[in-house]
Amino acid sequence: MKTPKRIQPLIDDGLVDEVLRPLMSGKEAAVYIVRCGDEIRCAKVYKEASQRSFKQAVHYQEGRKVRNSRQARAMEKGTRFGRDQQEAAWQNAEVDALYRLADAGVRVPKPYGCFDGVLLMELVTVEDGQVAPLLNDVALSSEEAMAQHAVLMNYVVRMLCVGLVHGDLSEFNVLVDEAGPVIIDLPQAVDASANNNAQWMLARDVDRITAYYALYAPALEGTQYAKEIWALYEDGALLPDVALTGLFVDNTPDADVDTVLRVIQAAQEEEDERRQRMQDA
Ligand SMILES: Nc1ncnc2c1ncn2[C@@H]1O[C@H](COP(=O)(O)OP(=O)(O)O)[C@@H](O)[C@H]1O
Ligand SMILES: [Mg+2]
Repeated sequence: MKTPKRIQPLIDDGLVDEVLRPLMSGKEAAVYIVRCGDEIRCAKVYKEASQRSFKQAVHYQEGRKVRNSRQARAMEKGTRFGRDQQEAAWQNAEVDALYRLADAGVRVPKPYGCFDGVLLMELVTVEDGQVAPLLNDVALSSEEAMAQHAVLMNYVVRMLCVGLVHGDLSEFNVLVDEAGPVIIDLPQAVDASANNNAQWMLARDVDRITAYYALYAPALEGTQYAKEIWALYEDGALLPDVALTGLFVDNTPDADVDTVLRVIQAAQEEEDERRQRMQDA
């Protein structure tokens, strides 16, 4: 196909040989299937900041580190240079997360780097070479649902062990191949120790995944994996292969008020930002 403008620099640099076809175009990015030598890969082209939706919301950005103070000052001031730096930081967050998670034993597409706002990664496929389906599009037995849920809870634990919370985990950001679930879509991943929103984002991730698998495996209903995982994390007892039960005994009944207030405040901020963007547009 005709090369999309944003991928041309990668062709010029010899990173990509040919764009085969578009795979998906969403609110945040357009994804293409590309050929690099004799390998078929996937290229994710990030949309400009102004066209993106919720994932740029301020509470995802909290605690993100930049390389130096000139960058930080420029980003605060909102100069052109600052906006470019912010954009680069956003785009690099996903490739950084992919490298960290692959190292931590979480199944993610193998990353090949991010160049000019284009992330090159492995195309996840099933045995016949077709692109792997989203979790949302596969039918499951209750046994498969239980098994995949356990794998994803382990991935959530492994992510938190290296300090990351996905922040947008759902049946729409998990691919499934013969070997099980593969986690995708990480530009909004948050740094658990530096971001005060990490606890409720982890709870939202875990609860969405659990609610989805509970449609096939009702035994998952009423489990408390998010609270269990967070309590272990706060106690410094979270290990990559920790055995989870889904049970949690809450002996500090009032301790969650803070979290609830943050959820409300964050929702309000997102709404305010959305309105602001609509006004700006
Ligand atoms: N590595 C990959 N292998 C196969 N399909 C992918 C891969 N990455 C993304 N996709 C497909 O592209 C879609 C959009 O990618 P995603 O990273 O979720 O971006 P968005 O922010 O647009 O949701 C996914 O829902 C999935 O269908
Ligand atoms: Mg997605």
